[in-house]
Amino acid sequence: MCSSLTIGFAMTGSFCTFRRVLNVMRELRESGYEIVPIMSFNASSLDTRFGKAEDFRKEIETITGTPVIDTLQAAEPIGPKKLLDVLLIEPCTGNTLAKLAAGIADTPVTLAAKSHLRNGRPLVIAISTNDALAGAAKNIGALQNFKHVYFVPYAQDDPAEKPNSIVARFDMTKAAVQAAAEGKQIEPVLR
Ligand SMILES: Cc1cc2nc3c(=O)[nH]c(=O)nc-3n(C[C@H](O)[C@H](O)[C@H](O)COP(=O)(O)O)c2cc1C
Repeated sequence: MCSSLTIGFAMTGSFCTFRRVLNVMRELRESGYEIVPIMSFNASSLDTRFGKAEDFRKEIETITGTPVIDTLQAAEPIGPKKLLDVLLIEPCTGNTLAKLAAGIADTPVTLAAKSHLRNGRPLVIAISTNDALAGAAKNIGALQNFKHVYFVPYAQDDPAEKPNSIVARFDMTKAAVQAAAEGKQIEPVLR
């Protein structure tokens, strides 16, 4: 049943994780899921030391066979047309966590989330931010208490050098998405 799911795969500007996240996208596609790629304005347009925006876009469109949703106009129909079974935000920045917790919908990813949640369908968040145990902690706490919101299990990635940083266990994405599709949070969420 799960292999027929359509998953929105939304990427935000945690650029250092893009390479690992594209491997997850490839794995989900090879498992038979339909993948609809979505990118925040920053994720889709910024060249960084981790790679060029245009190269990432090409690779994503090759993996998924689908054009990237990178505008508000393209993201808006996700809810009304019931386009997605599950929406995954991976990687999810501290910035996007704050917007989601505050109900702000001013990027393709946050609008996709708002539009999708109105159908009562699952949103899965894969955190990647250096301030997860500092400024972003209240937003993670708020989102943990939202209806229809689930998390890819997460852990401190470098407690000695970056004690406030948390990154999702990207290797657990598929299991987390499958659980969320059945209305369940995969446990333990803290790894
Ligand atoms: C090279 C680079 C790496 C970044 N890595 C992260 C990160 O891992 N996590 C994070 O929360 N923000 C990170 N940022 C900051 C975000 O990209 C920034 O807050 C941006 O406004 C996020 O917008 P978005 O959430 O709409 O994609 C990074 C920025 C740059 C330029």
